[in-house]
Amino acid sequence: MSQPDSSVMNRIVSLCKRRGFVYPASEIYGGLNGFWDFGPLGVQLKNNLRDAWWHAMVECSPTGPDGKPVSIVGLDSCIIQHPQTWVASGHVGGFADLMVDCRETKLRYRADHVVVKEVFFVPKGKQEAVSLGILSALDGDEAPSAFAKKAKKLAQKAGGGEVLPIDLEKADNLTTISPDVRDRVIGPDAETAGTLTEPRPFNLMFHSYVGVFQDEDSKVYLRPETAQGIFLQYKNIVDTSRVRIPFGVAQVGRSFRNEVTPRNFIFRVREFEQMEMEFFCPPEDGMMWYEFWVAERMRWWESVGVKKENLFRHIIAKEDLSHYSRGTSDIEYLYPFTAPNFGELEGVAYRTDYDLTQHQKFSKTNLEYIDQEASRRYIPHVVEPASGLTRGVLVMLCEGYQYDESRASPEWLKIKPSLAPIKAGVFPLVNKDGMPEVAEKLYLDLRKNYTCQYDAKQSIGKRYARMDEAGTPFCITVDGETLKDQNVTIRNRDTAQQERVALDKVSSYIAQKLV
Ligand code: GAP
Repeated sequence: MSQPDSSVMNRIVSLCKRRGFVYPASEIYGGLNGFWDFGPLGVQLKNNLRDAWWHAMVECSPTGPDGKPVSIVGLDSCIIQHPQTWVASGHVGGFADLMVDCRETKLRYRADHVVVKEVFFVPKGKQEAVSLGILSALDGDEAPSAFAKKAKKLAQKAGGGEVLPIDLEKADNLTTISPDVRDRVIGPDAETAGTLTEPRPFNLMFHSYVGVFQDEDSKVYLRPETAQGIFLQYKNIVDTSRVRIPFGVAQVGRSFRNEVTPRNFIFRVREFEQMEMEFFCPPEDGMMWYEFWVAERMRWWESVGVKKENLFRHIIAKEDLSHYSRGTSDIEYLYPFTAPNFGELEGVAYRTDYDLTQHQKFSKTNLEYIDQEASRRYIPHVVEPASGLTRGVLVMLCEGYQYDESRASPEWLKIKPSLAPIKAGVFPLVNKDGMPEVAEKLYLDLRKNYTCQYDAKQSIGKRYARMDEAGTPFCITVDGETLKDQNVTIRNRDTAQQERVALDKVSSYIAQKLV
């Protein structure tokens, strides 16, 4: 299948804008880097994915490795919590990325995101290759073209010549080179070498002030993860609900991180939503639940339509684990901008008793669990599947994006029907001869249960195309025959096949297919 020139990611971003999935935030003011708004179709898709997660976690929790039903309850905690929360959790002291500033352009970069490579060229009329300098660019699919462009410019400046192939496969980044090499790097947007500062830690938490005085005592933080709210309410939940260990607490909500280099559309942004669950268990069962939740979460992503081969379990090496973790696996996805590599979608971490112990220490509140049956007390261990809802929507869009020139709309979205923003389009074949009346009646009937759209404008092909781009699984057309035999045509988005279905069976037909 021939593909248009633009990269898959650029096409997904432009489809999202054109069809109202995702817009740049504050666009009329020129936008705000790292902030995106979800439009009418996007918010619907996001809510459907969130509801599927909540359903699988809280409403119909799975059966555990012990064969018993898992118990998980929900929580909705505040974005702003007591500032000590973030001291206890380690975010005030350590939630930082290494960043560098460019003295020439005044731009700031996350040091591990800047790939560096020495580039060589053979000057005109010469045989021997000479260095053009140490170039740099933000890694990702734009990096090779950024390197090539810069190298060409430098070669021209040096009198012309042939730039040798630039292999970025195993290139260094600003954290893996020595200071003397860094001092010779030409920054990603700079003209001259040696303008990048030494990498310095940069705390990612946004802060604000509570009350009328703006001083250190009134300083608060916007949460960088939803998880800590769960630890803070763990005791209230044990004391006021019937949960007994093992059990989980799930939460969906906004988190904020002042990312140094937000990028790749909604992959890394400064305001996003997370779907996190803290699973509390006896210390001796921690590893068992960790393995269970990794497998369960991989299975769930498949259940919402992600192909097995596009998911990867990345087991974090022992030496790279946080000091409190006994095991962490990232569930990764094959994004168009990371391919052939995978990028993080969700992290499943065995956090031991670290968080509760820290909060017990800082709050001076006893957070031990009392196991009456076994006559023992202990701080529970925690296994945490933490996924991004915003990033999950990106995965739905990347996985769903299809290109097929033979179709009414070459670009279309193959989203799992139950998650699709619009379930059915209802059309009169022509806007006369009694067809609109029947189609409108059907539409009014269906919209009692499903998000539907009535469309009578333009050719039927254009209407199919509009629905395909929105990922709508069914298009229902009322035609001349309908008036005689009370049957309509239902077109299936994935196969483009049509079948005749009785008017009074359309609703049950859709219900059956919405899996
Ligand atoms: N409580 C653990 C925690 O927050 P994390 O790996 O930092 O772990 C969990 O975040 C998930 O949240 C990530 O796997 C990702 O899906 C999402 N996420 C994190 N930072 C993000 C950002 N800046 N933009 C979009 N999603 C992000």
